[in-house]
Amino acid sequence: TVKIVTIGGGSSYTPELVEGFIKRYDTLPVRELWLVDIEEGREKLETVGALAQRMVKKANLPMKVILSYDRQEALKDADFVTTQMRIGRLPARVEDERIPLSHGMIGQETNGAGGMFKAFRTIPVILDIVKDMQKLCPNAWMINFTNPAGMVTEAILRYTDFKKVIGLCNVPVNMVAGIAKILGVEENRVTLELQGVNHFIFATDVFVDGSSVMDTIVEKYANVTAEDTLAMKNFISLPYSPSFIRGLHAIPCPYHNYYFFTKEQLDEELEQWKEGTVRGEVVSQVEKELFALYSHQELDVKPKQLEQRGGARYSDAACNLIQSIYNDTGDIQYVDVRNNGAISNLPHDSAVEVACRITADGPKPIATGELKCTINGYVQMMKSFERMVVEAAVTGNRDLAVTALNMNPLCPSDELANVVIDELLEAHKAYLPQF
Ligand code: G6P
Ligand code: MN
Ligand code: MN
Repeated sequence: TVKIVTIGGGSSYTPELVEGFIKRYDTLPVRELWLVDIEEGREKLETVGALAQRMVKKANLPMKVILSYDRQEALKDADFVTTQMRIGRLPARVEDERIPLSHGMIGQETNGAGGMFKAFRTIPVILDIVKDMQKLCPNAWMINFTNPAGMVTEAILRYTDFKKVIGLCNVPVNMVAGIAKILGVEENRVTLELQGVNHFIFATDVFVDGSSVMDTIVEKYANVTAEDTLAMKNFISLPYSPSFIRGLHAIPCPYHNYYFFTKEQLDEELEQWKEGTVRGEVVSQVEKELFALYSHQELDVKPKQLEQRGGARYSDAACNLIQSIYNDTGDIQYVDVRNNGAISNLPHDSAVEVACRITADGPKPIATGELKCTINGYVQMMKSFERMVVEAAVTGNRDLAVTALNMNPLCPSDELANVVIDELLEAHKAYLPQF
């Protein structure tokens, strides 16, 4: 029997996860699901926790949902720990978006200055959670969704001796679905070769039933309609020129829109900012509506409205991963793990997001060789950025933060890098003990 602990259990995404465990009970018998949050999150945890309990009751399963404000008590003897907390909650995200935008720089949750500060707030907390796990459940797997998921994984790999961490994102599974649709085949026949880091991955090969269809998909994606562009719910995704896709001979992930349509993305964000609502504020509103629904005592399933969030298929990604580890299935999934040579010219001890075979001993990354020449420089640069951010997050080194931001393609000026960093340091100081 399986004990799962979810840190940040009061998240509006929790019903996704609960639905996933209910659906898979036959192969993944979760007997205890501990939803953990901090005192400030009590109202949310009680509301979403009660919904989770109604969902389990309706499914008539011997799964206990336990609400807790005591992380250490909860972690004891856990088998899997999922992390989905947001340090500073949505108001902090709004600052990550608004402050850079007020200086004409992309303001985004996981990219540029915003992603950097989300890393600064999150990494000290995640390192504390790892310490607790090493004491209380040293054999458990940590499955981290908290963004920036790639940098969080990098931090654990580099600054602890805890090995059982896996970073998880829903972008790869959404890419599989989008590519399957373009090819006109069922999703379960499609697998990808990925090269890159979280929110900066390229599909460098695409397989149907194990055979490469790369030339076909490249040609189709070069001519993709705006509506079939690989996209997420939380930002616009413009179609690339046929020349770019043919020349690249790879399929960029949705988040590459920030890098290859920087001007258009910035204009769009600035417009939203001027109109008064950045994404964090849209999400706050969606959350209010979701929690109002969750508090209805008759509701005992996951409500449709949750689909307005960017996290589509997040539950499938998480539950499939746990299920495959538990059952040692060896199937292919896409996660953030220690590279171990899967991308031969990135550091072997860094986190990468690649296709892995999922075994009871964890994800085994599938070798991809060197980074494809067309993407090599850019991916190397992003990995260097991540390493600098992680080091700054651990040491509180402001100079390194400024250097990292200057190196990031979304930052247009050294002077602005300094200004934006100082404003963000001030705005978030309650959550940045290391600086
Ligand atoms: C995508 C990303 C997640 C991110 C989410 C944001 O799903 O992969 O990492 O958290 O979008 O969605 P939101 O609704 O919060 O803007
Ligand atoms: Mn993600
Ligand atoms: Mn620059």
